[in-house]
Amino acid sequence: MSRFSPAIRACVFDAYGTLFDVHSAVARHRERLGSQASAVSALWRQKQLEYTWLRSLMGRYADFDHITEDALLHALEAFGVEPEGLTDDLLAAYRELTCYPEAPAALRTLQQRGMQTAILSNGTEQTLTHASRSAGLDDSLDRILSVDALGIYKPDPRVYQLAVDALDVSAAEILFHSSNAWDVAGAAAFGFRVAWINRSGAVRERLPEPPDVELTTLEPVPDLLGSR
Ligand code: LAC
Repeated sequence: MSRFSPAIRACVFDAYGTLFDVHSAVARHRERLGSQASAVSALWRQKQLEYTWLRSLMGRYADFDHITEDALLHALEAFGVEPEGLTDDLLAAYRELTCYPEAPAALRTLQQRGMQTAILSNGTEQTLTHASRSAGLDDSLDRILSVDALGIYKPDPRVYQLAVDALDVSAAEILFHSSNAWDVAGAAAFGFRVAWINRSGAVRERLPEPPDVELTTLEPVPDLLGSR
């Protein structure tokens, strides 16, 4: 028996931080960044997200590939790192991020049990498709949904509406998964059922709408939903 009513008919996943480890790009070139590596990676991610929110507010959309590069250039300059080929290598690594170890089996099991599966992400469709293939997730995903079609970023409600339209289910029949607490709040405010994949043991955000469930990985999700 599932804890959800109405029953969940689609499992939708945030990409970066939830399926893909955003810090795996820097991890591959850690020796070139030395002791600053983790701090550079954290600032890269922080600026990437800030730029999505700020550009959305400014009405100056640029796609996520562009923003990811801008954020990296900022982070490298902030730490006084001379790019010298590193920018291209890090961006190439970002296109082929490692996925979290439990993600392939969790997605496969959900799909085998008749659940629709999809990514809903700030990333571009092309980059998400490439990343999913390179991580071996593509066969377990029915759809890849990108904000790029709209030209606005999460947590704008129009982004979450993309999944309702594409999957032909109601918002309350979607279980959305994100490691990003602000994305969790945005998705729950929109009307999704939400699982916060709190990988880092973060404290909750003081934002409207708590998640329905908090987990540390995707591993328990299939059992949580039961069989259909
Ligand atoms: C995404 C970012 C928010 O994949 O992680 O949409």
